[in-house]
Amino acid sequence: MEYKSILVSKEGALAILTISRPKALNALNAEVIGELYAAWKELEDDKNIRVVIITGDGEKAFVAGADIGELKVLDSLGGMALSQRGQSLFWKIENSNLIAIAAINGFALGGGCELAMACDIRLASENAKIGQPEVGLGIIPGYGGTQRLPRLVGKGMAKLLTLTGDAISADEALRIGLVEKVFAPVELLPEAKKIAEKIIAKGPEAVKAAKRCINAAANSNLDGGMRYEIIEFGAICATQDSTEGTTAFMEKRKADFKGR
Ligand code: CAA
Repeated sequence: MEYKSILVSKEGALAILTISRPKALNALNAEVIGELYAAWKELEDDKNIRVVIITGDGEKAFVAGADIGELKVLDSLGGMALSQRGQSLFWKIENSNLIAIAAINGFALGGGCELAMACDIRLASENAKIGQPEVGLGIIPGYGGTQRLPRLVGKGMAKLLTLTGDAISADEALRIGLVEKVFAPVELLPEAKKIAEKIIAKGPEAVKAAKRCINAAANSNLDGGMRYEIIEFGAICATQDSTEGTTAFMEKRKADFKGR
């Protein structure tokens, strides 16, 4: 499918989804959100794809937020509709069978930070600036930022970032657990691909089940999460891949996973 504001490329089981509105620092307008929906569906429907790296076009920005020009004309109902549409896209990414890696190659502000937080893993380049600056515009985060940020960095740090609107460096984001790794700008994509390839080499059903269980940890109490893990563990033990993976280990050979 042809897109205007995003680029999709595929390399085996890996897809790279690049948000491409460089003149607006890749801000998420209605067109980008619509195309991200369509592209995500396309990637989910492609049974060869297992991991998606999401990044921004150019050297300056991952995504500089929701498109502020579109926000300034919104009334209450319009605001709710915009928030709901963005939230449901990010929910889809977070709960997808695909593994999403955010390669944060510059500004990740507002909706950009929120998109990165909906991904499974966040990698940043040394020049990244990350934050939730919405209160400076007289609004609040609307694409899940008030909910995902405290779950990632704790309530106090989420309030410090959101209430001051300050953007933090990649190193500070690493220190507080908002990103998992930091790389030199030229290394960001190659390193993201290496991590993607490691995931792709593992048992496909096991990767999906582990993602579901870890997501459940954020959405349930410990007891509920543990019970959920028991159910997923039981289901994964009945797959051919679990037999293959454990047998391959015992036979000191590489596992040949089939995704079933
Ligand atoms: N929406 C629309 N356009 C944007 C934009 C955004 N979020 N961010 C940047 N742009 C545009 C600028 O208007 C500018 O366009 P023109 O060249 O036509 O003037 C172009 O991108 C380049 O930006 P700057 O000239 O401002 O670049 P800079 O290097 O001086 O500053 C920046 C970079 C600090 C990221 C600055 O652009 C900025 O502060 N952007 C806004 C960040 C922001 O507030 N994001 C939150 C949006 S609200 C939100 O996301 C709500 C939500 O949760 C749903």
